[in-house]
Amino acid sequence: MQTETLRPDSAGHARAAAILRAGGLVAMPTETVYGLAGDARNDTAVARIFEAKGRPRFNPLIVHLPDPDAARDYVEWPHRADALARAFWPGPLTLVLPLKAGAGLSPLVTAGLPTLAVRVPAHPVARALLTEFGGPLAAPSANPSGRISPTTAAHVKAGLDGRIEAILDGGPCDVGLESTIVGLDGETPVLLRPGGLPQEALEAALGQPLADRHTGDPLTAPGQMSSHYAPDAPLRLNAGAAREGEVLLGFGLVDCALNLSRAGDLVEAAANLFHHLHALDAQGARAIAVSPIPDRGLGRAINDRLRRAAAPRPPG
Ligand code: TXA
Ligand code: MG
Repeated sequence: MQTETLRPDSAGHARAAAILRAGGLVAMPTETVYGLAGDARNDTAVARIFEAKGRPRFNPLIVHLPDPDAARDYVEWPHRADALARAFWPGPLTLVLPLKAGAGLSPLVTAGLPTLAVRVPAHPVARALLTEFGGPLAAPSANPSGRISPTTAAHVKAGLDGRIEAILDGGPCDVGLESTIVGLDGETPVLLRPGGLPQEALEAALGQPLADRHTGDPLTAPGQMSSHYAPDAPLRLNAGAAREGEVLLGFGLVDCALNLSRAGDLVEAAANLFHHLHALDAQGARAIAVSPIPDRGLGRAINDRLRRAAAPRPPG
């Protein structure tokens, strides 16, 4: 299959929507990372998403919608969800809520769970595509399973060329980290994945702290297993300096070629993280040492991704 690259203009949006209507797959830019979109109502399209990524079928997908009203067609909507949707949608927040019966989605999307993850993205190209397509789009990050998420069209092409119909090129993603996922299907709101929206902002809007994900329960977040977001080279975290054979990925005022943010700005560091890890892969780095990153604001999501990247890899 030839993967087309589409420009983010009205002709590109129309072509992308036509591909999606025919059950094809389109990588689309969002403000967090590029997503691999397919019609969430079409079993074949959803099955092809898993296929293209090499993703295990038990790991459910996020459904992307044009506005909060559309989300209510697919999930039960508790009062608490209103406060978060009003404060942060469109934006880098995903809510996990009870799936509505008869919502019409492919059962593959939720991997059999009674809940559904929904998100209203802010990126103008994602929004234009959702409007043009006029339906729910299932979209995981547009990378081969277990690898670093893509923040440019070139990253998507490097990982999925020939496996998907098209890539809508909307330039680099602003946030650079996947959305923050909050579970609202139980008594207390739970932080299922730290991400592009800081926990502090969520807790302020909710007026209560978020509970930690119960790590022992594999069903709560099937995709949250140890090794993930991995570059080719092994990573060493909280490094004061590079040892022999290592390339240093710096933060703040350290002497190195590749720095997440010389100014020590966590927003800038988040936007650069996957970009720099892809660059280290591309340059064939053998071992990577990473400076300490403060564990607050977006730093928590950055440290989460770095810990996963440094975790022992499954064989193969
Ligand atoms: O920023 C993002 O969230 C990007 C863009 C494209 O929207 N998407 C993304 O999707 O990161 P993905 O599939 O790479 O990560 C979604 C995570 C997975 O870890 C999955 O297990 C979890 O969300 N998830 C999906 N549905 C869930 C559910 N019903 N309950 C708990 N976790 C769920
Ligand atoms: Mg992913």
